[in-house]
Amino acid sequence: MSTSNKTKHEPTVLLGVTGCIAAYKACELLRSLQKSGARVKVVMTPMAAEFVTPATFKALSGEEVAIAPIDDPARPIHHISLAEEADVFVIAPATANTINKLANGVADNLLTTTALATEAPLIIAPAMNVHMWRDEVTQESMDRLYERGAVIVEPESGYLACGDVGEGRLAAIEDIAQATLAELSRSRDMEGKSLLITAGPTREHLDPARFLSNPSSGKTGYLIAEEAARRGARIALVSGPTDLKDPFGCSVVRVTSAEEMLEAAEQAFAELEPDAAVFTAAVADFRPLERSQQKLKKGDRGRETTLQLVANPDIMATLAADKGLTYVVGFAAETQDVIEAAAAKLETKNADMIVANDVSDPTLGFASAHNRWHFVSKDGVESTEILHKRTLAGLLVDRIAEAT
Ligand code: PMT
Repeated sequence: MSTSNKTKHEPTVLLGVTGCIAAYKACELLRSLQKSGARVKVVMTPMAAEFVTPATFKALSGEEVAIAPIDDPARPIHHISLAEEADVFVIAPATANTINKLANGVADNLLTTTALATEAPLIIAPAMNVHMWRDEVTQESMDRLYERGAVIVEPESGYLACGDVGEGRLAAIEDIAQATLAELSRSRDMEGKSLLITAGPTREHLDPARFLSNPSSGKTGYLIAEEAARRGARIALVSGPTDLKDPFGCSVVRVTSAEEMLEAAEQAFAELEPDAAVFTAAVADFRPLERSQQKLKKGDRGRETTLQLVANPDIMATLAADKGLTYVVGFAAETQDVIEAAAAKLETKNADMIVANDVSDPTLGFASAHNRWHFVSKDGVESTEILHKRTLAGLLVDRIAEAT
């Protein structure tokens, strides 16, 4: 018999708070989650209580705050009852110390013991000094936790409490709340379905040292792949060069050029017979007519020279031409007449939906964490707010789940 007193319809977020200056931001996260209808229970490390008192979290949550392994006579095995109560466990802020412990299964306080005991999805929002974040040990721990299925809400870059500038600042509270709520309501509605996704830029080499490309980071495609995989889909991701790790639960083929991307996508399409194909890649429209095997010298070219280009194959148009029952989603990055351009692509590329994004604002689109999308289909246009790309990925997968 469970010792949990959770009522059946009350979704419970267990909020883990660890000891760092950003601990006060957990109060705001708690409020944001409560406003969305979640019951929030707080578990703190002893060090976190040095930054924000348990009394603050108790007053805000209306729940006892868990901190000492044996502090609740009604629940003598406290870490197990907490672990069972949690529908989602979000650790925000998560320090390097706690992250490195979690990655190694160290359970030396109530928070880490509960993390080891729970079967609830784990969300980690790190916050620390930039050098601690970049440290090889921390990065290895992050990789391990991600590979085991944790959702990572990446820290932001900026001024840090210690005076340094760089990555390590806790992500925006709204982004952590959205990631937490997405886990709380996650369905397995993509179970049994398969998706082909292209992502990232392509590089079209002139010579071994130079190439034509664009600023796509791959984030959009990778987050769509991760979201669909977490909802049960089988994913083949064909990716151009990016710094990103393979998304959780996805099979990834890494390529460099548009021609290689076409070959890999055609192969995956034939093998997978996907229910949907999503083309987020920013494929270079042209490549140099000739690729030199040696680095080109400035030599005697003078001050002006001409580069001859040849059109690349259109990967999406090629696969969509013979798409059968596959639901085809294309992307369009535009700087003007965004909706009109997307509607035109719906026709020319034989797509079921084009996701248009306005990249005239340099803070949105390429390589940003946030974006605003317009879903353009024969049924009309639906526009989103500016949201984290993870949340946008969820909205797109909702539509794919419905359409396939
Ligand atoms: O990777 P991020 O940093 O997150 O950035 C995301 C993004 C801005 C790159 C992405 O959201 C996006 O908009 N991708 C499409 C970029 C674009 O302008 O595509 P396009 O208009 O050139 O092509 C339209 C569609 O055809 C796209 O789905 C594209 O993948 C596909 N295409 C285009 C050319 C080509 N040779 N092959 C293709 O498959």
